Amino acid sequence: MCGIVGYVGGREAAPIVLEGLSRLEYRGYDSAGIAVLDASGILTLARDVGKLSNLTSRLEGAYPPGCTGIGHTRWATHGGATELNAHPHVDTAGDVVVIHNGIVENHRELRDELVFAGAVFRSETDTEVIPHLIARELTIGLNLEEATRAALQRIQGAAAVLVMRRQEPDVLVAARIANAGGVVIGYGEGEMFVASDLPALAGHTRSVVFLDDGDMVRVTATGATYSRLSGEVLTREPQTVDLENTAIGKGVYEHYMAKEIAEQPEAVLDTLRGAAQFDPPAVFLPGLGLDDDAIASLSRVVVIGMGTSLNAAQVGRIYMEQLAGLPAETDNASEFRYRRPIIDGTSLVLAVAQSGETVDTLEAMHEAKRRGARVVAICNTPGSQATRIGDGTVFLRCGPEVAVASTKTFLGSITALYLLACYLGEKRGFLTGRRLGQALDDLARLPQLIGEALKSDAATLAVAERHYQSEHFLFLGRGPQFPVAMEGALKLKEVSYIHAEGYAAGEMKHGPIALIDAAMPVVAIAVKDDHYTKMLNNIDQVRAREGKVIAIATAGDTLLPEKAQDVIYVPEAPTLLQPLVTAVPLQMLAYHMARLRGCDIDQPRNLAKTVTVE
Ligand code: M6R
Repeated sequence: MCGIVGYVGGREAAPIVLEGLSRLEYRGYDSAGIAVLDASGILTLARDVGKLSNLTSRLEGAYPPGCTGIGHTRWATHGGATELNAHPHVDTAGDVVVIHNGIVENHRELRDELVFAGAVFRSETDTEVIPHLIARELTIGLNLEEATRAALQRIQGAAAVLVMRRQEPDVLVAARIANAGGVVIGYGEGEMFVASDLPALAGHTRSVVFLDDGDMVRVTATGATYSRLSGEVLTREPQTVDLENTAIGKGVYEHYMAKEIAEQPEAVLDTLRGAAQFDPPAVFLPGLGLDDDAIASLSRVVVIGMGTSLNAAQVGRIYMEQLAGLPAETDNASEFRYRRPIIDGTSLVLAVAQSGETVDTLEAMHEAKRRGARVVAICNTPGSQATRIGDGTVFLRCGPEVAVASTKTFLGSITALYLLACYLGEKRGFLTGRRLGQALDDLARLPQLIGEALKSDAATLAVAERHYQSEHFLFLGRGPQFPVAMEGALKLKEVSYIHAEGYAAGEMKHGPIALIDAAMPVVAIAVKDDHYTKMLNNIDQVRAREGKVIAIATAGDTLLPEKAQDVIYVPEAPTLLQPLVTAVPLQMLAYHMARLRGCDIDQPRNLAKTVTVE
């Protein structure tokens, strides 16, 4: 959730830390803060509420001096978005400085204990117990690393922390406990970096080490030493990561969301590249981590995820059934992990997570592994935790997604799930040569079809102009379009704050129909597939109650203009791949509605790109 950046080296830390934070702001934007230490131990702290730009414009031209610094963008969990609650937090004496991503579950009892012992708390955050705990350990003569280790052993919950201390001005200490989100250490020439995500390191280094759960690191300008929280010393060799596409801008677009919607044909093509071969037909998934015997032994698939990734998982379930011939189900990762799922070594759990850092999904993966299931991540982020927990990974290769509302990774996840279903289907003898060839030929047309769907932008804008003042929306779809209806509703509520619900259209008459009146636009995904006639019935039922219908229709459909007030056309596509086409105008609809309503499209209120707390 929160973004973390640290620097120690020969240059001024503040501009480097602030620049790194600017690349992580999508993680949280309730408030931001930095702390900088100079060589003589003078500490300067600066924090502000709201977006990072508030802090940067306040500091412009007067950066706090010093070559060691840490910074944080916050997504509030405990305590409101106020300056006092913004990180970094310090101990009573102002010696120990901490930034934190995660939740300290036992913070109340620790706070009571620390206050009783004389600690002065200045914020309402759970985080503030950490500098006070460390400070207490320092009084018995430990150094910062030792004191941090001792303090973190008292903490229950999730924590990625970055710590510095006035009396050790050339040292940073970082640690990661219990799936609190990533911590990556970057190696420069005579300088070192710490960050929660790779984008913060772009332009500085490609040589990195990722901390595992329970790892600690002591970082100075010349290197890093690693250990476990238990004290065991570790050896970690830096690996080289591809950060080429990480330093990204909006280009000609006003918002990242618009840019990322437009990038979708390329994102899908890149996901296919190297994985799909068309002649002769074959799928290559070298990172899958399942051999032929394991694949042959599978009895079922469970596809899990959260938010948009869960909607992609719902489409993936259909692929697993129809292309791989495997019984399949989906679940919210947050429910799956607690419902004592009945799975074993013949179960394949697919964890869809663009970031690879969503804590519910990571914990569900651990739970699946504990129960002996095969676990594969469907992920967009190399090096992320999801890619390291599972037996293997199928990557979507969409490049970094910056807008908080996911778009291109929805399509990328669905594409990756389709490839995986073809792969499993072929290995299991379910998708024979001719059918595999057809399935892959269909896939080959996809980038072009998505490009065609993008041409509905003007029509979508016109629809948005007619409806942007509506306060409620209903989205209906059947079969593979049901998850798209869910995703259309999710996108709309996220970026425009309009109340929107997605339903399986068959469900409409079992309750939602009571909501329909002249003020309720209903988006009906009524493309020409096996469900078309049934969707026409739904549309008639909506119209009979004076509802306004916005139909998503197959190009050339002449019936729907007679039935619906608005029609947005998409190109005809193979039924199983149609979700990748119909999702596009729904994303654009949400975008245009939000723009017309003056919303903060790339950083909607209350949301964060990566949700690393429960
Ligand atoms: O990184 P993940 O795919 O695991 O993220 C899951 C959800 O948090 C994410 O899809 C969220 O719902 C987005 N804001 C949707 O636009």
